[in-house]
Amino acid sequence: MTQPTNTNPSSSDASELDFDYLQKLLRRQAERPPLYENVAIIGCGYVGSTLAGFWQRKGHFVTGTTTRASRVPELEGVTSRVAVVSGNDLDGMRALVREQDTVVVSVAPTGLGALAPNAYANTYVKTANTLAEALRQSTRVKQLVYLSSCSVYGDRRGNWVDETTPLLPSDDRSLILQEAEHILLAANEGRSKTCIFRLGGIYGPGRDLVSMFAGVSGRTLPGKGDRFTCWTHLDDIVGAIEFARSNQLEGIYNLVDDSKLTIRQLTDLVCTSYRLPSARWDSSQMSTSRRCSLRISNQKLKEAGYKLIRSEISV
Ligand SMILES: NC(=O)c1ccc[n+]([C@@H]2O[C@H](COP(=O)([O-])OP(=O)(O)OC[C@H]3O[C@@H](n4cnc5c(N)ncnc54)[C@H](OP(=O)(O)O)[C@@H]3O)[C@@H](O)[C@H]2O)c1
Repeated sequence: MTQPTNTNPSSSDASELDFDYLQKLLRRQAERPPLYENVAIIGCGYVGSTLAGFWQRKGHFVTGTTTRASRVPELEGVTSRVAVVSGNDLDGMRALVREQDTVVVSVAPTGLGALAPNAYANTYVKTANTLAEALRQSTRVKQLVYLSSCSVYGDRRGNWVDETTPLLPSDDRSLILQEAEHILLAANEGRSKTCIFRLGGIYGPGRDLVSMFAGVSGRTLPGKGDRFTCWTHLDDIVGAIEFARSNQLEGIYNLVDDSKLTIRQLTDLVCTSYRLPSARWDSSQMSTSRRCSLRISNQKLKEAGYKLIRSEISV
């Protein structure tokens, strides 16, 4: 590349300016994503507030949402600004997305509302519809990330699935998650990149596996314990969302770790790690659990260049 011999515009010899070089430089700068962005996180719960703290430490201007004014002081510690917005508040959502570069949707029913019969639809579908409507008037948002769940695949009796596998939601909740995916994939009519992460069970600090599974120690459980489980560590949720933001990732990606443990292997691991008596499994008793069993490929995300932080389950 030709270096300019003199780039000082106040120089008396302006003929020495290399305008081609300067133009190329300006063009390259315009193509490069800005170092710091305006980012909005709709739903600053377990994942959202961790992501907010991460992005704030990186220097981004983070707006985080909650539906409860009582949570504002707590969230002020990890965000640049807190907005009290519900998923059905179109004016609030429009104001929220207006100046954003990246928007992340990390909502799940919480608080008293979580007990309502239509809590799932109110949370996921209403938020998706309102956001899609708000994005119609936004010209700035260039990246949307939505956190969905691998439950949309339904029960596959232990078989493998990837992002091309047709969905088979086995209950109303998974159907609702699927509907929210559809709405957000179609939102913004291609003006921004939409990335959907399908997560496994979330674990991490404060949501550790020992708290979830130590209760089965020493008990006899029905069935063989051969149902496959899938897990995503909090570190990888934050890591993959940052990867999506900085690489403008588009499309659907499974975000699960590499460990494909059955529920029996998982409970054994937890009990052994904490020197607790293992659970016993009685195959003469029918398992009453209607949970899904499937092995989920994370190859697509790896091929896109993301390297898992927690590739194996950590107890
Ligand atoms: N938990 C899992 O194992 C799991 C598995 C697969 C996928 N996921 C997905 O992962 C994401 C993050 O989960 P999480 O555990 O971090 O959730 P969480 O801790 O329960 O937080 C959910 C957030 O959503 C907000 N919210 C609830 N209803 C809302 C509404 N109607 N409008 C706007 N915001 C609303 C809540 O507001 P408040 O601050 O007012 O409570 C809260 O900030 C969710 O999208 C979830 O579906 C979770």
